[in-house]
Amino acid sequence: MDEAATRVLLSEFGASLFARGFSVGSAGNISVRLPDGYLMTPTNSSLGRLDPDRLSKLDRNFQHIGGDKPSKEVFMHRAFYQARDDAGAVVHLHSTQATAISCLPDVDQSNPIPPLTPYFVMRVGRTMPIVPYYRPGDAAMEPAIHAAARDARAILLANHGPVVSGKTLTDAVYAAEELEEAAKLFLMLRGQSPRLLTAAQVDDLLTTFG
Ligand code: 13P
Repeated sequence: MDEAATRVLLSEFGASLFARGFSVGSAGNISVRLPDGYLMTPTNSSLGRLDPDRLSKLDRNFQHIGGDKPSKEVFMHRAFYQARDDAGAVVHLHSTQATAISCLPDVDQSNPIPPLTPYFVMRVGRTMPIVPYYRPGDAAMEPAIHAAARDARAILLANHGPVVSGKTLTDAVYAAEELEEAAKLFLMLRGQSPRLLTAAQVDDLLTTFG
């Protein structure tokens, strides 16, 4: 897919996520790796009203070279791209249920959501840790995110929200959507004893679907 088509797709996904309440106001940011750099949503932009022609363009060193000023979360996105060769896109949302889990101190901080459904495992993977709280835009978050992203396609930033990577923009958006559904199920089933997928079933999913 060329850059022009990627700009349109990113804006369409932003509008879709916004329309369905995955982000509100100017919350959230999305980036995509290109052969010569990155596209990123501008800071303070609403995902619901992105202009493909005004998306921020960064070079391979994450320097701003075109479009509007990029998200203040460049460090968060850079941490994922530098930790994961397989990351072709990164989606950060404040989606409600995943963010709710990021606020819970009594869940397993190394992997709060158990394997409840196949699609969560297939899209998000085996583990998704909670990374300690940092002020939005704080460059100090980068080492912590980098370390967590080496072993996980997605993380929850404590008291803030999910950050999800994928091989493609479509993969990253689908994973962010599955994560929010899994978070909803987890919260619905809290205090109950749901049947979980077994380790063998998780292995089978990851072997079959990658
Ligand atoms: P930006 O508007 O700078 O992308 O920040 C939004 C956000 O979600 C901060 O975490």
